[in-house]
Order: sequence, then C-alpha cells, then structure tokens
Amino acid sequence: MEGRSAEVETFSIMIQRAEHGLHNRGMVLSGLRGVGKTVLLNHLRSTGEEAGWVTVYLEGKTAESGQTALQTRLARELITAARRLNKPSMGQRWKAALGSIASFSMSVGVAGASLGVDTRTGRADTGQIAIDLEELIEDISLAMQDEHKGFAMFIDEMQDLDDGLLSALIAAQHAAGQRGWPFYIIGAGLPNLPSILSGSRSYAERLFDYRRIGPLDPDAASAALSRPALTFNAAYTSDALDLLVDAAEGYPYFLQEYGRSIWDLAPAPLFTATDAELAVDAGMAHLDTGFFPSRWDRATKSERNYLRAMSDDGAKGSSTTEIARRLETKPSSLAAARAQLLAKGLIYSPDHGKIAFTVPGMADYIQRQHNDH
Ligand SMILES: Nc1ncnc2c1ncn2[C@@H]1O[C@H](COP(=O)(O)OP(=O)(O)OP(=O)(O)O)[C@@H](O)[C@H]1O
Ligand SMILES: [Mg+2]
Repeated sequence: MEGRSAEVETFSIMIQRAEHGLHNRGMVLSGLRGVGKTVLLNHLRSTGEEAGWVTVYLEGKTAESGQTALQTRLARELITAARRLNKPSMGQRWKAALGSIASFSMSVGVAGASLGVDTRTGRADTGQIAIDLEELIEDISLAMQDEHKGFAMFIDEMQDLDDGLLSALIAAQHAAGQRGWPFYIIGAGLPNLPSILSGSRSYAERLFDYRRIGPLDPDAASAALSRPALTFNAAYTSDALDLLVDAAEGYPYFLQEYGRSIWDLAPAPLFTATDAELAVDAGMAHLDTGFFPSRWDRATKSERNYLRAMSDDGAKGSSTTEIARRLETKPSSLAAARAQLLAKGLIYSPDHGKIAFTVPGMADYIQRQHNDH
C-alpha cells in the first residue's frame, strides 16, 4: 500500500485504542475516481479482520443500492463475520449478539440458522432500519468490547447510499460515540461525500476523521511502479520512472496503465526513457478506448454538451453560470443535465456554484476526442 501510511497508521491506532477501551471517531476517505479509495478500504478491512474485529463491507452503489438489497447484504456479511469469530470461549454478550444477528437476518429474509443460536425475537427485527441498525450495532459492539475489540463497517461509494440508510448510519455512529460502543464507520466516496454527510445530519462533521485521498507523491508513485517490477526481475531507469510519474500525475490508475504498457512493449527488463515514452502513448490510447469512453458513453446527448462545455476549463472545475453562458442558455434549463451527471457520479460540486469532473484527465480526454461542436 504505497503512500497511504497516514491512513493505515490512523486505523492501527484505532485498533490499539479499542484494545484499551478508548473511543475513536470513524473515518471518511474522499477523492476522485481511480485514486485508490477502494484498495485502501480493503486494506483497512483486512487489518481489522486480522485484529479479530467484526467487519462488514457494503457498497452504496447505484443499481442495487435499494435499502432491501443493502440490508440483505449486511445480514450476509454479519453472518460470515460472526461464523469466522465464533469460539466457545466467547462470552454471554457474544451469544446475545449472535441472536440479534440471527433475528435481524430472519427479518430481512436471510436464513441465519448456520449461526447455531436461537433468534432473539424482538431484537433488531422491527423492519425499521434506524431502530434495527442501532440495536444490532449495540449488541455486536458491546460483545466486542468484552474482547477488547471493535466492530467496523466499511462502506464504499458512500455518497450513493439512500437517505434513510445514510441518516440511520450516522445516527448510529453518534450513539456509539456517546455510549462508548466500539463501533466505527469507515466510509469512502467522491469528494462531495463530506458535505453529503453533514447535509444528512449536521453533527456528522464531528463524528468522523475526514481524509482527502489524493494522487500519490512522486516517491510513492515511483515505488508503486518499481516495487512490483522488482518481483519480476525488472527495473526502471530513473529517467523512465520520472517520465511515467509525471505523465500519470501520481494517479494510481494511470500509473498502473502505464506500468502495464511498458511491460508489454519494452524489449529488455531494464525499462528506459524511450520505453517510457512509448508506454505513455500506448497507455493513453488504451485509456482512450476503455477508461474514459466507459464514462462518456453513460452520458446522454445533452449531458455530453454540458461535459464538453466544462472541458474548456480543464481539471480545475467550472462555474455553473459560465457553462450556461457558454451554451447560450439559462442556468435553469441546464439543471436537469447537471443533476443527472451528479447522480451518475461523473461530476461533483466542489463549492457552491462550481462543478468539476470526478474522473482525473476527463477534461483533456474530451478535448482530445470529442471537441467537435
Ligand atoms: N497506493 C497505491 N499504490 C499502488 N497502486 C494503487 C494504489 N492505490 C490504488 N492503486 C491502483 O489504482 C487503481 C485504482 O484504485 P481504486 O479502484 O482503489 O480507486 P478508487 O478511488 O476506488 O476509484 P473509483 O472512485 O473509480 O472507485 C487500482 O487498480 C489499484 O490497484
Ligand atoms: Mg472505488
């Protein structure tokens, strides 16, 4: 995990503090597409599992983001985590927590019989998510507290969670803080996630440690290229490395693409600056047929016009009134296209009246490929 030692360290400290019965804030990782949020979230989750925590992984994403789908997923994840941790030495509170997981699972239509306990009828099974979540979290985290461990819920694409579930989760994190339950939400999402959280519940600001996940710094970016190469007995000249790191601007997804290209085209396992130049061309061509079009193709005609108008401003973002002026129309008549692009996660609003691409390099791609007004 190159260049993410601060977040990795913060989570390790959470684990150590929980060991001593001390409370922490949850964590929110936000950043652009392809910057490495999901990889980091998975890494933190494995750390939690290794420390013997109850961990679950949810995704707030589109298609199946309905509350029912997520509740089903939550039940399955809890059953798996509980089975993994179940030992005869676990105390009475653990048995109670298992009963709550079983009754919650039953209420959302997932068979929890494999837990080998009776369901606790009347616990976490009202069908009202806010109540059920809080009861589940209370029972599981109190059981974990007896073991000097915690309960962490990892939520990717958190900006896409539905409102009811989101506010229930934030309320549960709040209750955990007030009552000292070792329960933590570790969320990841687009740069607007922090403002979505405080828009849902104003006190969300105080509940989380907010971390902006940005491009890798040059050292970390170089390491991200050269370390994996080493395991295959290959290496980069320092010119080659500099060239690739510059071209990728530290974005992990682009580094990976260029790294793959150089591997395919270099004649010898010492990668030179010439190889690197060719790899950037080949990598860019590949991005232009996959990564970028997969986003572009999701936009309708009017949304594409909007994106095209935005692309004149590059990566720094645009003013919404300026876009309307450019498209020779009223801002209000662009509201629908803008709302759709926001919902699709292609753009976000960094500030009031401002709009920017969530995909690094998207503006340049549009200028390269689609600037045929
Ligand atoms: N710290 C890192 N070092 C090396 N490679 C990384 C690092 N972080 C991410 N990557 C690579 O970059 C790619 C993108 O990472 P990831 O999918 O986690 O991004 P993301 O922020 O979740 O993007 P999205 O918003 O599209 O979901 C992955 O293929 C991953 O292997
Ligand atoms: Mg991701």
